[in-house]
Amino acid sequence: MAFDFQTKLKTYESALAKTKESFLAGDVPSGSMFLTKAIELSAELAANSAIDEFKARFSTENARLKKIQSAVKAGNNPFLKKQAAPVEGGSPEKEGNGNGQGKEESQPTGFFKKDIPSVTLADVAGLEEVKREIRLNVLLPLQNPDLYFRYKDETGSRILMYGPPGCGKSFVAECIAGELKCAYAVLSVADILDKYVGEAPKRVKAIFDEAEKYDNCLLFFDEIDSLGASRDSDESSHTKDVLTAFLTCMSGFKPKGKSLKVIIAATNRPWALDSALIRGQRFDTQLYVTLPDDEARLFFVKKAFKKHPELIEGSDLTPQYMVERLEGFSGADITTILAKTKDSALARALEERPVEGYCKVTKEDFDKTVDNYRNPITPDSLLQFEAFRKGVI
Ligand SMILES: Nc1ncnc2c1ncn2[C@@H]1O[C@H](COP(=O)(O)OP(=O)(O)O)[C@@H](O)[C@H]1O
Ligand SMILES: [Mg+2]
Repeated sequence: MAFDFQTKLKTYESALAKTKESFLAGDVPSGSMFLTKAIELSAELAANSAIDEFKARFSTENARLKKIQSAVKAGNNPFLKKQAAPVEGGSPEKEGNGNGQGKEESQPTGFFKKDIPSVTLADVAGLEEVKREIRLNVLLPLQNPDLYFRYKDETGSRILMYGPPGCGKSFVAECIAGELKCAYAVLSVADILDKYVGEAPKRVKAIFDEAEKYDNCLLFFDEIDSLGASRDSDESSHTKDVLTAFLTCMSGFKPKGKSLKVIIAATNRPWALDSALIRGQRFDTQLYVTLPDDEARLFFVKKAFKKHPELIEGSDLTPQYMVERLEGFSGADITTILAKTKDSALARALEERPVEGYCKVTKEDFDKTVDNYRNPITPDSLLQFEAFRKGVI
């Protein structure tokens, strides 16, 4: 019989939810049984996924669950331990101040960055449409408040960035914070769910409460898809509670007066988002952060050789050739490929010690590197993003 991915996924999510519930209730025998089931199912999902990204995700899940299983066998209940950690970890700053009410709310969550990023949108290669939308929705309201408020009652921005990994979603968010020079928090939703079992809804609320204290503020929620598929599905009640808390906080997160409140979320799996997140008023601006075009790839090539252009001047390796061969790779992969290409010439220079003091980077260095580099972004996954963009999935 053919492998039914959706059904297996549902059974897996259900086993995972029951694992957590049992362990949290202190029922270790049932928890262990569901955990074994979840381990088996994650292995099956990893082995049978048609999409590389899913394969990787379920292999990681499988490894994570096996670790939990070892901890359980060693006599620990990892779920209870994790639950206690944030409470303990959250108090020391205020130790000695008594146990006054509202103490938790006034504590910094630790998610807000201390330094304003030094990068700006000028550092982003390509993605012209994305940059245009960001200028229009986020940057220009700050510079032209009177004009904007003539047309709008509020200038809150809720942007969802989606696209293949390594194409600059997190980087663009950092650049926006660099442009706005405002309070900026980066939050990995998967981390919050994982670290604060049982406490995550409270953490989400604390983050939004802290954000309220700033006039202008940007919250960046990475891996927002971790908040799960449909709330109606049989998934962990923990995730559901966090999603509900998130949606409630988001509705109340509105600018007062002429302040600016921006929420940006990013995902590599937009099709896995709860529909409540993407309907109007929630993440109403959706931006496809896609692979770099010719010009953007040239940007990366120029950047790689900016400090030492002599490395390719007069070599048989031309920028044009690199731009052509790097089509289909993400900005992150292009950066890695170019660094590895230079490493290859460096290795030669170390071995040959030429009189000029260095070896040029050659076409062979580059071709060898690209040939040996596995592109994690498959044509299939791109089709899936296109389908999402067109609203087909
Ligand atoms: N369009 C781009 N412009 C500039 N740098 C990029 C771009 N895309 C990727 N990069 C580089 O790759 C790194 C990884 O990208 P990242 O923003 O983490 O990707 P994503 O969040 O989409 O997975 C960034 O820190 C940046 O150095
Ligand atoms: Mg990212």
